[in-house]
Amino acid sequence: MSTKTGKPLVPSNIETLKPYVAGKTIAEVADLYKPDKIAKLASNENRLGCSPKVKEAIDEAFKVIQDYPDPVARKLRAAIAERNSVDPENVLLASGSESIISILCKTFFLNRENAITADATFVGFFVQIGVRGVHLKRIPVTTDYKYDIKAIANAIDEQTKMVYIANPNNPTGTYINKDEFEWFMQQVPEDVLVVMDEAYFEYAREVEDYPRALEYDYENIIVLRTFSKAYGLAGFRVGYAIANKELIKNMMKTKLTFEPTALGQAGALAAYGDDEFLAKSVAVVEESKKRLYKFFDDHDVEYVKSISNSVMMVLETEEEAIDFTQKMLEKGVILRRINAFGLPNCIRITVGLSEEMDHFEQSFLEVTKK
Ligand SMILES: Cc1ncc(COP(=O)(O)O)c(C=O)c1O
Repeated sequence: MSTKTGKPLVPSNIETLKPYVAGKTIAEVADLYKPDKIAKLASNENRLGCSPKVKEAIDEAFKVIQDYPDPVARKLRAAIAERNSVDPENVLLASGSESIISILCKTFFLNRENAITADATFVGFFVQIGVRGVHLKRIPVTTDYKYDIKAIANAIDEQTKMVYIANPNNPTGTYINKDEFEWFMQQVPEDVLVVMDEAYFEYAREVEDYPRALEYDYENIIVLRTFSKAYGLAGFRVGYAIANKELIKNMMKTKLTFEPTALGQAGALAAYGDDEFLAKSVAVVEESKKRLYKFFDDHDVEYVKSISNSVMMVLETEEEAIDFTQKMLEKGVILRRINAFGLPNCIRITVGLSEEMDHFEQSFLEVTKK
């Protein structure tokens, strides 16, 4: 879009940006195909819902909804700090980890600096980096769909400011293990920020060789977590970063003053205190994941083992992935094609409740006529 003077109104990094395209909603699918029932297995949400304690907390917070939220979310910040054995000044809360990624992009880059990540990872990072106009090096994942940390380490140059690693990764569900993480941290210069996005931490933390990034003492690590996944609060938009105080202090300057919302803060605090619900959520995913692996093994489907709440199916071609996703959609099973995440022949399936997995399996058999 250019003017008579030839000066563009929209800068080229925005003009050429591919925005994040969210998965289909239940209402959209109900309108379009009118299936008897719908299994929304497309956006890695918690299919069990959220802790029953959240509702009560929201009702309470609603009584003062006319007031602005606490800009530093003191109560929630203190709870997160305590549980992670850090000070509140090490914690920043914002409207989901997507917002924190945006804050990282606003806070840390000078012109000409670059960032590095995998070619198949969380699209939100590609988008926010693009908005900021930062050059992004996207390093292909390995043949077993893992971050290629050796290639990433080799790609670091004088202008590199940030490496982003989702661990476990979305959409692949794979992870870099303790040895790999420790090796990687030794390669990274201390003036390069290492963003460890642990959106699926609660599902992954018991895996023996999973590196909990917070347990490592490096000043340049920024850990991201969210209430959108295992806590079941994606609709509230609450996420947090934990990092050294200097980094957090500067990130505070670029976050929107009143994020996250007052209801989000109250809901997240209540959810954070309900260990029972969290344990149940993780157990449901573990059980359904085992069942899905077995189903895929029995039907000769190629898939990738995951330590998060989704499993990736690998098809031969992009056409097959388009066709399968569409046919499943018409049966009310919403899945996610992950072409935008860099893997056009793959499909991501959020692991759901047992009745949703029944629906998935039944529809799969009808669609593939197996
Ligand atoms: C790795 C990763 N990071 C961040 C997010 C965004 O989470 P939030 O809802 O906290 O913005 C997602 C959501 O799918 C994700 O998979």
